[in-house]
Amino acid sequence: MKQSLSTETRDTKATRKERAVNPTATATSVKVTPDKVHEVLGKYMLADGFEFVLDLDKSEGVYLYDSRHNRKLLDFFSFFATNPLGMNHPGIKTPEFTARLLRAALHNPSNSDVYTTEMAEFVETFAQHAMRPHLPHVFYVAGGTLGVENALKAAFDWKVRKNFARGYREERGPQVLHFEQSFHGRSGYTLSLTNTAEPKKTALFPKFDWPRVLNPKVEFPLNDERLKDVKAREALSIAQMKRAFAENPCLEPAQLHLGRHAGRHGSLPALPRDHGRGGAGRERGGARRRAPGGTRIAGEGIPRARLERPREGPHVRVRSP
Ligand SMILES: Cc1ncc(COP(=O)(O)O)c(C=O)c1O
Repeated sequence: MKQSLSTETRDTKATRKERAVNPTATATSVKVTPDKVHEVLGKYMLADGFEFVLDLDKSEGVYLYDSRHNRKLLDFFSFFATNPLGMNHPGIKTPEFTARLLRAALHNPSNSDVYTTEMAEFVETFAQHAMRPHLPHVFYVAGGTLGVENALKAAFDWKVRKNFARGYREERGPQVLHFEQSFHGRSGYTLSLTNTAEPKKTALFPKFDWPRVLNPKVEFPLNDERLKDVKAREALSIAQMKRAFAENPCLEPAQLHLGRHAGRHGSLPALPRDHGRGGAGRERGGARRRAPGGTRIAGEGIPRARLERPREGPHVRVRSP
């Protein structure tokens, strides 16, 4: 590491030996001052995040301490809600809690095979506080993308088995309806759903051709004109859903790009009441079935060009059919 970055590396024979014996020594042998954080990161990775440097010790509650500029910032961000308790909450700073956390952090057993009292205590606590009686099982993964992917896999499995039970001899049920401008992560199945305003994030990766419908999000402040407009877009979105459900009845109900795109009824417009009743008999076609551009879709009478709005960004205005 270059000295010009003020990073202190003691890369001597002695420190190399020390690191080999005690790998955790590596973490403390490199020192970076707050004014050099962005410069150091930028050498190895895309570093286009916020320009402040978060001080983990001095930040407190809703205040983030910026050690690069020595100032306090009021936190309206909460790291996309990954830190809902705020910084340095007294409840997580007790010696008992930090000791427990450290013990868990120092080890990484494969908990699918090997169990600990810590794991059982966590699962029991989670069950008591976060589970509902009608959903009695858990499956843990780390991160939103994997959460969505595993929900999709469970849905595919359920749907295909249901269709086998109905007499189908081949796998039926591969489609996932989703909204324009949605964000569900960038991995495997979720790449097929994620389509934010920045196409570079997903453009050249393989994706399934799953049905995508207009996102009838509310624009604020909600006045009479905007209300009229959103109602018209809801009607169009529902028409698109009806067509998609008639062909591919399987829904991905979560939709919020980092919580920004709210609909009038929560995340979704009021769905057609028969959306779940498509059934195997109405499931025609596989993952690649689409009418040619510009043609009319049987039964709906909506020109395909209108069903497939351009996906240029979050503020597309669309007239109802
Ligand atoms: C609805 C939704 N799904 C999935 C994700 C992806 O989560 P992660 O980045 O933890 O994989 C996000 C992240 O913002 C999200 O908002």
